[in-house]
Amino acid sequence: MSIDRASPTPPSRQLAEALRQSISEGRLPSGVRLPSSRVLAAELGLARSTVVTVLEQLTTEGFIVPRRGSGYFVAPLPPAAPKPANEATAAAPPRLLSRHAALLRELRPPPPRGSPRPFELGYAEIDGRFMTSWKRLASRALSGRSRLPWFYGDASGEPALRRAVADYLAAARGARCRPEQVVLTNGTQQGLSLAARLLLDPGDAAWVEDPCYRSAYDILRAAEARLMPVPVDEHGLDLASAQAVRNPAPRLVYTTPSRQYPLGMTMPLPRRIALLEWAARVGVWIVEDDYESEFQPQGRTLPALQGLDRAGRVIYLGTFSKLLFPSLRLGYAVLPEDLAEPFAAARHLVDRQSSALLQTIMTDFIVEGHFARHLKRMRALYAERQGWLIDLLSRRLKGVLEVRPTERGMYAIGWLPRGWSDVAAARALAAADVATVPLSSLTLATPRPPGLVLGYTGHSPAAMARAVERMAAAFERETGLATRQELELRQDHLSA
Ligand SMILES: Cc1ncc(COP(=O)(O)O)c(C=O)c1O
Repeated sequence: MSIDRASPTPPSRQLAEALRQSISEGRLPSGVRLPSSRVLAAELGLARSTVVTVLEQLTTEGFIVPRRGSGYFVAPLPPAAPKPANEATAAAPPRLLSRHAALLRELRPPPPRGSPRPFELGYAEIDGRFMTSWKRLASRALSGRSRLPWFYGDASGEPALRRAVADYLAAARGARCRPEQVVLTNGTQQGLSLAARLLLDPGDAAWVEDPCYRSAYDILRAAEARLMPVPVDEHGLDLASAQAVRNPAPRLVYTTPSRQYPLGMTMPLPRRIALLEWAARVGVWIVEDDYESEFQPQGRTLPALQGLDRAGRVIYLGTFSKLLFPSLRLGYAVLPEDLAEPFAAARHLVDRQSSALLQTIMTDFIVEGHFARHLKRMRALYAERQGWLIDLLSRRLKGVLEVRPTERGMYAIGWLPRGWSDVAAARALAAADVATVPLSSLTLATPRPPGLVLGYTGHSPAAMARAVERMAAAFERETGLATRQELELRQDHLSA
């Protein structure tokens, strides 16, 4: 036994670990007397008090027992199992994992994203006014004057925030719900995971839009749903074509009617009504992911499906993570009356509740009007940034990456020339420190023209301009045809 002075592990921990290991491997068998603390201290060059503390610790852990007047002895421990004759060939016992784990093996958590690279999705602008009010509300929440509950709270969320969310959704999204139907979540992802747990058994059919939000697809797959891609047309999820080919009806449909992810179209009212009537008649759950409707021009958004649903078939999911900043991890689900309690019970099992501190800050942020003002500022800023992006691309990458003016939001699709591989394009751009998501990576079964999903909200115009220059250079390197003049020449040539 020796102590490594150069090691970052403190000597006391080294000694304790060496003793534990010698005892559990049988090198110090049961009943053997340890050298006295004085001898050990002298041999190892340690203070005697250090050695005594280690011996007391190992006594507490049950490795050794003290005998009055005679020192410390190795405790009687169960004998180690006999080693197989040929250890190398003996099979290790199986490390059994669940079926769920087998599904997860194919999935990888994305690496943490540091500072944003244009055009990474989901980044939000954190402006000075937001920071000032958020900081003030946070310090108030932590002061004695707040109503922050310091003990466990309601799994469904703090009543004041549930009321604020119900009022906000009624006014902004045409939702019809009582606060009792609102359950706070840690974001849409958790809301969908809980809905899947509550509504699906393994093997149940679930329809997802094609193309689809990747996390939604993965969550439903991990729930062992039988996933059926439903094509979208210019009005979003196409129920009629899905019904024509897909029998029987699914248990659940995941949809983004306010702004199809990622193609961006809005489902018109007649189609919404038809979807709800069908769901009520056949008994299908509709999970409505109403992400980022708030950033559409005001007065142009249709009311959420939830507000039109008279049969209690819609589970509505929304998130503050998109509206404020993604790492906030606070969202909400609005449930049919009879699902609110089971949903809260499932929520409680997973992680008990959302952070009470965040809920307290968020409640004041909404109730005192900061939320509405923040959304108004961001709506204008994001619209301006979308304009910047379209302008930059049309000046520098015309004919190579075309963004058609769409409804607003947090991202746009840049369409590549037909025949290009969007995966290869994204790879070439990534090498130039430009982040994009190839549309084909979100596509399940219905082929689409090649495109790149570009987020513009958290990136300054200057950063976007520099990124577009790098994109132009990267395309030029890859294809030799990305300069504007060359393209124009090529287009002239083609039209001639
Ligand atoms: C379609 C869609 N829904 C929801 C979310 C937000 O989910 P969360 O609240 O878990 O961050 C995103 C974010 O990328 C999204 O693209």
